[in-house]
Amino acid sequence: MTSPRTTLSLVDTDPAELAVDAIVIGVHSQTTEAGTGASADALLLASGAESIAAAFDGKLTETLALLGATGGPGEVIKLATLGTVTAPLVTVVGLGPEPSGAAPAPEALRRAAGAAVRALAGAPRVALALPLPDDADAPAALRAVAEGALLGGYRFAGYKTKPQPARREPVAEVLVAVPDAADATAQAEIARAQAVAGAVRTSRDWVNTAPNELRPPVFADAVATAAREAGLEVEVLDEAALAAGGYGGILAVGQGSEAPPRLVKLTYTPAGGGNGKRVALVGKGITFDTGGISIKPAQGMWEMKSDMAGAAAVGAAMLAVAALKPAVTVTGYLPMAENMPSGTSYRPGDVISMFNGKKVEVLNTDAEGRMILADAMARACADGADYLFETSTLTGGQVIALGKRIAGVMGTEELCERVRVAGDATGEPAWPMPLPDDVRKGMESDVADISQVNAGMDRAGHMLQGGVFLREFVTDDVAWAHIDIAGPGYHSGEATGYWTKGGTGVPVRTLVHLVEDVATNG
Ligand code: BES
Ligand code: MN
Ligand code: ZN
Repeated sequence: MTSPRTTLSLVDTDPAELAVDAIVIGVHSQTTEAGTGASADALLLASGAESIAAAFDGKLTETLALLGATGGPGEVIKLATLGTVTAPLVTVVGLGPEPSGAAPAPEALRRAAGAAVRALAGAPRVALALPLPDDADAPAALRAVAEGALLGGYRFAGYKTKPQPARREPVAEVLVAVPDAADATAQAEIARAQAVAGAVRTSRDWVNTAPNELRPPVFADAVATAAREAGLEVEVLDEAALAAGGYGGILAVGQGSEAPPRLVKLTYTPAGGGNGKRVALVGKGITFDTGGISIKPAQGMWEMKSDMAGAAAVGAAMLAVAALKPAVTVTGYLPMAENMPSGTSYRPGDVISMFNGKKVEVLNTDAEGRMILADAMARACADGADYLFETSTLTGGQVIALGKRIAGVMGTEELCERVRVAGDATGEPAWPMPLPDDVRKGMESDVADISQVNAGMDRAGHMLQGGVFLREFVTDDVAWAHIDIAGPGYHSGEATGYWTKGGTGVPVRTLVHLVEDVATNG
């Protein structure tokens, strides 16, 4: 099930003369002596809007104030142009306060572009004339606008059998106004944004697909097909290969379902061997998490179709890597299983022999993510990874601790910091968390090497228990980071900025950024 695509290109024509269905400009909110509010003084048109403002004879801010504009982030106001400019519609998007002397932060532009393109569904062709700095920050700003537009224009095709007249078609074509459309740096940013946003959209499609349509063998095929088309090397381990290879964790979780588990391995090899470093990306691919024998409550269980968001992000990031061709070897590992209760399910009390030989005592079958990830991470280490980034919708504890926007990061200190920096740069915030000794002590098992969770099922340090467990499956010489995206991987609320309802595609952009970071800086 794939969503319709949006195309993107650069334009350097005067926005007032562009033959498009709508032209988007920005407006800042300003604090006046009377405070903020819908007054013309409180509004400041952003750069890029000059020729549109001139065509309105300088009356644009007044008109906007009349319509109740505040310039707040996410605000979108549409104005009929009545012949003042070529486009029939001007769309004004709020950018919040103008940062003193500087252009808006890239994330403010990304959200504004997303909100505007989303609000313009029904208009086939739109142009964005948003403020872009003319200094060294220009590429990051252009990247943000392009990504925001492509992601705000995303819509999952869905399963409705009848046409939906009230549902307007997503914008098909976006033009971004820049000073020089022939500029090579600008064109490279557009190409990159298309590859990265395309990957994010693919990961959203996988997450939004109904779980009965994306059980492990089907998900594995979908990823393998896309990866082969992108030119990646593909290996799929089925249940027999997993048994032969000793992947006890993946098999234990998968054994309760009639749809057998898989481990998909995708490899990108740079021309000439790149810089000699090897990056491993690992993503949790639980196609549906009922909890298994330790079954979850019914309320909200449907959202557990998103429990493969980590694998979707890794698979999609690999597609972007194949397009961007960084100078580093990258291997994606996507363990996939469906966590079901049945007569063949694994059970609390089971002891599982894992890929790296360690024995794990199962206490709660709902802590299944760490079981499949442990095997995949140990395999990545056995394959000789220098850097290992793993991402998963692992714990409800992440949502409690950091909320729905900020991912939790655990692992080796330097790599956690790199993930935080990458998240900051891409608009996918992530925050480092510790791996305390007392949490590891609480996971001592009476019978095995480690318990899967706290031996008394104490939920203290819930998110950290996940990180502490996964550490046991990474060899000492490997720099690693576990990125818990239980909150940011899925958006249950109304669409906002460039986030649509459902899968968010987090942390595809972070993973791509990290791969490029290692390719450039080692
Ligand atoms: N997939 C869930 C975590 C999750 C919760 C993701 C909410 C997204 C939103 C995971 O497999 C799980 O069930 N975790 C348990 C762990 C517990 C049994 C140790 C949890 O968070 O309660
Ligand atoms: Mn679970
Ligand atoms: Zn889960």
